[in-house]
Amino acid sequence: MNKSTDRPVIRASKLGKQLASSGGNTLQIIENIDLSITQGESVAITGASGSGKTTLLGLLAGLDIPSSGMVDLLGKDISQLDEDQRAALRQGQVGFVFQSFHLMDHLSALENVMLPLELEPDAGVDYKTNQKRALEALQHVSLADRSTHLPTQLSGGEQQRVALARAFVTRPAILFADEPTGNLDRDTGEDIINLLFSLRQKNQTTLVMVTHDDQLAQRCITHYRLENGKLRQRERAAS
Ligand SMILES: Nc1ncnc2c1ncn2[C@@H]1O[C@H](COP(=O)(O)OP(=O)(O)OP(=O)(O)O)[C@@H](O)[C@H]1O
Ligand SMILES: [Mg+2]
Repeated sequence: MNKSTDRPVIRASKLGKQLASSGGNTLQIIENIDLSITQGESVAITGASGSGKTTLLGLLAGLDIPSSGMVDLLGKDISQLDEDQRAALRQGQVGFVFQSFHLMDHLSALENVMLPLELEPDAGVDYKTNQKRALEALQHVSLADRSTHLPTQLSGGEQQRVALARAFVTRPAILFADEPTGNLDRDTGEDIINLLFSLRQKNQTTLVMVTHDDQLAQRCITHYRLENGKLRQRERAAS
């Protein structure tokens, strides 16, 4: 069902991340990781709290710089790019969903969804077109009637649906999700995941998701577990 091509959209080679810890020691969070993620693949990364899942996601998404090794994101070696160039690479091609939604409090649901469109370097696109696209994205998460609401006027599940609309509005090639249901009750979390997988299917988006939930991880084509800085492949679900 989930068609993936063999073209890698993310490739990590000998990836490592060290951080300074107290007393002048260094902490090896990520160690010598090789990873290749193909277009259209869905990848789950599980692991204990503090095992380095968020750190790894940040490295793969080009938000953070590795201490050793390299990451190739959408055909570009990100260590060769400065911060602005990495941001330009992400724009329109990479979406994010976080545990704590990360919506802008002073912007309405619609304005939040419009944000990535307005940041796009495509100068030919006007405000009205962006507004229309954002409203369509809100329709896809069944929240068109809440477009003028501020995040504080929405429930947790509704806020995460707005965050999904914002992540998908540019039809990104890759979506990174870090514990997207971590702040939601079980039923609401399941609704969000079903929505995420259906949007992913419709848009043929590559998904890289961090989760604590083994059952949820099994919905992905590939499941890795991060332990002691190393990635171990768990199982490959039949599709
Ligand atoms: N900026 C930092 N400076 C020092 N140590 C850090 C920093 N950021 C994270 N760490 C440490 O790196 C380790 C991995 O953190 P990370 O947030 O990647 O874990 P995680 O697997 O995402 O955990 P959780 O499941 O709780 O979100 C932790 O021990 C954390 O304390
Ligand atoms: Mg984390």
